[in-house]
Amino acid sequence: MDTPTKPSAVGGGTVAFKPRTVAPQVKALQFGVIGYGYWGPQLVRNLNLLYGSSVKFIADLDEAQLARAQSLYRRTRLTRNATDVFESDIDAVVISTPVHTRYPLARAALLANKHVFVEKPLAIKVSEVEELIQLAHERKRVLMVGYTFLYRKAVQELRRIITGQLEKLYYIDTQRLSVGLWKAAGEGNETRNQAGRSPAAISNDL
Ligand SMILES: NC(=O)c1ccc[n+]([C@@H]2O[C@H](COP(=O)([O-])OP(=O)(O)OC[C@H]3O[C@@H](n4cnc5c(N)ncnc54)[C@H](O)[C@@H]3O)[C@@H](O)[C@H]2O)c1
Repeated sequence: MDTPTKPSAVGGGTVAFKPRTVAPQVKALQFGVIGYGYWGPQLVRNLNLLYGSSVKFIADLDEAQLARAQSLYRRTRLTRNATDVFESDIDAVVISTPVHTRYPLARAALLANKHVFVEKPLAIKVSEVEELIQLAHERKRVLMVGYTFLYRKAVQELRRIITGQLEKLYYIDTQRLSVGLWKAAGEGNETRNQAGRSPAAISNDL
């Protein structure tokens, strides 16, 4: 059989592509995303690309953000009230709101028996983190924190070196370059770049 082709994305002619014939061995999930500011839209876009999965609900306190979402996702339900998401039949909640809101939102999601993905850091206090982990264990739900670089080979290699070859580590200094525009610190948080990342957050991934 001839190799199938599709129009080239860069214009002119066609390119060969391999059609997906076998679904990946992952369970399709219905998601609710809470927080549709800067980072939420990236999460929604990628969740909708997962095979068989889709974002069924988007919640944000800000009507303007919801209007932005509506222009792109006409079949997604929009709400200003996160409780609507918890009370729906979705499988998993993705939280991309400011740090101080995450513990109550993640807790409510777990209590509603949803799997939960939370942007880092998971919560402000260690006690809150411990409670959420305990709750996830009790409810047999997945609680995952969005450590962006956790699965990067370079970070994994650095971790291997630190844990395997070095003795007690007293200090580590990392730099991430080309991180985009810096914007003013908000809500008493640290100064951060446009992607919402501080140097400390980057070190977290290790
Ligand atoms: N993993 C990464 O690389 C990465 C990059 C950027 C941001 N982030 C994370 O995402 C978080 C959000 O960042 P951002 O830049 O999108 O912030 P943002 O301020 O642009 O957006 C947050 C949104 O949450 C909404 N919100 C606040 N409280 C809410 C509530 N109770 N219910 C519903 N909506 C609520 C706000 O209206 C706002 O639209 C950051 O704190 C950061 O930790 C991660």
